[in-house]
Amino acid sequence: MNKKNFIITIDGPASSGKTTVARIISQKLNFLLLESGNLYRAVTYLWLEFQNKFLENLDNLKKFFEQEIKIELLPSGTNIYWKDKLLKDELRSKEVEEKVSEISAIKEIRNFLTEFMRSFINRNNLVAEGRDMGNVVFPEADLKIFLTAREEIRAKRRYKQIIGKEKRKNLYKEVLENIKVRDRLDSEREIAPLIIPEGAYVIDTSYLTPEEVVEKILQKIRQR
Ligand code: DC
Repeated sequence: MNKKNFIITIDGPASSGKTTVARIISQKLNFLLLESGNLYRAVTYLWLEFQNKFLENLDNLKKFFEQEIKIELLPSGTNIYWKDKLLKDELRSKEVEEKVSEISAIKEIRNFLTEFMRSFINRNNLVAEGRDMGNVVFPEADLKIFLTAREEIRAKRRYKQIIGKEKRKNLYKEVLENIKVRDRLDSEREIAPLIIPEGAYVIDTSYLTPEEVVEKILQKIRQR
């Protein structure tokens, strides 16, 4: 672990524990945390705000990011500012949740964000968390992790996160359905589908606490 710019990728489906685990690791190691889902969520949010397709055009997207978007990588997470306003709850809205898989399947958007994320490589040690970090964005990563968990368990985790904020009949069923649809869209899309990267260390988090998962990953890092 003496090498400069150590990169750890953590991929996996929705609610597999990626974000929690990635954040504990980046804070323990003082690495910057790249939450790639936030970037896809931000583009989705902007898309919904503008209600038109101008963000599908690569030049428009580039210009827009250069002029109006600021990204801040910290060990605690990835902050995205639009015209100096931190996008936070906006990225977690029901509308974004429902649209993000569709937007993240668009080739131009993926190509742009992949290139954009690679520009962080030389700056610092990174924990990069998402769906295609190990196989597409950082294939040269020093350690690749793939987290997984049973569908019902992931739905329960998600349900617990939102039950305080949203109260609808059949919420659990809705969440489970949303997870199934998202898994299918993320795994079956043509470009950069969610797959286990070659050489990745796979951890089933169904019956593990985040701390137990973190310990397994730290053990791997110590072996490097
Ligand atoms: O990790 P998350 O739930 O914040 O990600 C939101 C969506 O963004 C996810 O459903 C698929 C997309 N995404 C992606 O396509 N590629 C990534 N590297 C990260 C997220």
